[in-house]
Amino acid sequence: MKFINFFLASVLWFVMSNVYATTLPAWKKLMPRPQKIEIRKGVFKVDKDIRVVIPRNATQRVRVAATKFIRRLTNRTGLFVINGFPLMSSDNSNYCVTVSYKRKGELKLHEDESYRIDIASQQIVLQAETDIGIIYAFETLLQLLDHDADNFFFQNCHIEDKPAFTWRGLLIDVSRHFQPVSVIKRNLDAMLVAKLNTFHWHLSDDQGFRVQINQYPQLTDKASDGQFYTQEQVKEVVQYAADRGIRVVPEIDVPGHATAILVAFPEIGSKKMTYRLQRNAGIFDPTLDPSNPQTYVVLNNIFKELSALFPFTYFHIGGDENRGKHWNNNSDIQAFMKNKGFKTNHELQTYFNQKLVKILEKYHKKMMGWDEIMTPGVPQSALIHVWRGKKGKRLAETVKKGYQAVLSNGFYIDLMLPAYSHYQNHLYPEKFNLTQAEKQHVLGGEATMWGELVTPLTIDSRIWPRTLAIGERLWTNPSVTDRQEMYQRMFAQSWHLEELGIQHLSAKEIILRNITENQNTDALKVLTGVYEPLKYYTRNKGGTEYQTYSPFMCFADACSADAPDALQFSFVVNKYLDTRSDKDKRTIIKLLKKWSNNHKQLVKLKPNPKLQKLLPMSQSLADLTLQMLVLANNLIPVDQAFVNRLKLQYQKAIQPYNDVSLANAEAFKELIVYWIKQRNLKWQ
Ligand code: ACM
Repeated sequence: MKFINFFLASVLWFVMSNVYATTLPAWKKLMPRPQKIEIRKGVFKVDKDIRVVIPRNATQRVRVAATKFIRRLTNRTGLFVINGFPLMSSDNSNYCVTVSYKRKGELKLHEDESYRIDIASQQIVLQAETDIGIIYAFETLLQLLDHDADNFFFQNCHIEDKPAFTWRGLLIDVSRHFQPVSVIKRNLDAMLVAKLNTFHWHLSDDQGFRVQINQYPQLTDKASDGQFYTQEQVKEVVQYAADRGIRVVPEIDVPGHATAILVAFPEIGSKKMTYRLQRNAGIFDPTLDPSNPQTYVVLNNIFKELSALFPFTYFHIGGDENRGKHWNNNSDIQAFMKNKGFKTNHELQTYFNQKLVKILEKYHKKMMGWDEIMTPGVPQSALIHVWRGKKGKRLAETVKKGYQAVLSNGFYIDLMLPAYSHYQNHLYPEKFNLTQAEKQHVLGGEATMWGELVTPLTIDSRIWPRTLAIGERLWTNPSVTDRQEMYQRMFAQSWHLEELGIQHLSAKEIILRNITENQNTDALKVLTGVYEPLKYYTRNKGGTEYQTYSPFMCFADACSADAPDALQFSFVVNKYLDTRSDKDKRTIIKLLKKWSNNHKQLVKLKPNPKLQKLLPMSQSLADLTLQMLVLANNLIPVDQAFVNRLKLQYQKAIQPYNDVSLANAEAFKELIVYWIKQRNLKWQ
């Protein structure tokens, strides 16, 4: 008995020390974690006889999901199944995955997205109220696929699951950098894995207008560089999304962020000037003129065509970051304001928004906008997209005023922060004590993929895998918060996204091959394991270092948030400082050796200008980690002068290089400080 306990404890210990958790059973790696899972005895063994049976009158959504399920299952298992397509029948004899649901789900708020799964040794049953629940059940079932040396299998279990929030979104900004339909589609597939149900398509901004408007060909002729979606393509994307239970919200950002519109329609601008597409990043002054009736004619016609393409109720009008500079300097606008009795630009923007509410109503749409639109006079039917405010303040204010809110503050994935920082985001900010009614006004949240620094090659690595963690925050019980478990489950699901064509992992190799000019990329890959792109927009700080057409095949583009070796290092250092175990120390030493030896490999490559730029960074890491090994292994007697030199090396290693910085740098420091304290030396 004792032996067994000890054995179990060591297994658990091993599992907990490993962020990648390859030894966990599949049901422990589900993401988002289901609300309820009951594990039962036995397994459903997967072999080539497996059949998927769907009702004869199954919806397109279910047919697509069942077909894709079989494709992904065969690819994952290597099994040449006999029935490679879903069978339509009422036959649910043994060895089937059977599907039953009551009705087609609608793409609307608060639709029933719940599902149940029952896995027994002879049969798997997926049940739901709607076909949307069924497609989620298929996703969960795929995540449950497990294996041992001889077989693939599903653990027998019972799952009951439903989302915590009805709005689980991802914004993709295609104005700053255009993303072709193929990129959008593969991300819609991945959204379904994350059980996200809202795709927010940011179609217009200062850098481009990306959708065909039949009545106004000048919009895409003059303001898209030829990179835009035709209306046929929009319909195709909307249908593709609908098949995945995803509704689509278009955004035309006005009255600010409107340079692209003004390139086509300078006459509705607030300043007489020649408008040119913006190539930099930032907040710019061109603004629509709310006092000009023609402004509303143009917007009416744009909204009319787009409303017909997007069936979902909400239409996003942006409304953010309008500083009103061109309003202040335009005497006609000032006279208009005086005449209307408006004292502030907020009042003028409210007037503008009220007009848009009316236009949208004609097309049966409700207005959604960034939280700047929440001014007295904007009706409570407007949905407020909260992107500002510290610690939930703005969100609380919004729902306390009686508006419904979608939260993006805290879900800005373009800030390149670790997944866990987004995972900790509160949808019911604690210190504001929301009432039950106020909580119901929080519809959910959205990850925002702003596009200043991404191309079709790199966008996936900025969205995934971190958006899996955000998806879980929006789906699962808020009491599920453990950091290590979150990372284990996120990495366990991350690599499966590749089966959908997501390039978050493979793009790295392409970029590194470019940097090495087709030489061995191993040494650079080691560096991407420990360096992360600069956070909080410190990459491209002034907005002009990178322009729309700058290279995005730099070392920073090959790196991503949550650099994997650095993450493992921080976990093991934390644990080592707690337990001081030799095993953890050995893991630490292994990583330090990997980094200290790497520079020698890198300099063996035939140099080129792209590589040369990386050498000082690589050298600084090698210098730091080599000296840390001296400390770790007690190689020489260490005195305060050694520590002082080490501190300088540390400071050199943590400075930004090539738009990246050493990830989890504090773990390096904590470890050094621990080791020198043992020798009565000081970090001074
Ligand atoms: C925003 O990030 N300006 C909504």
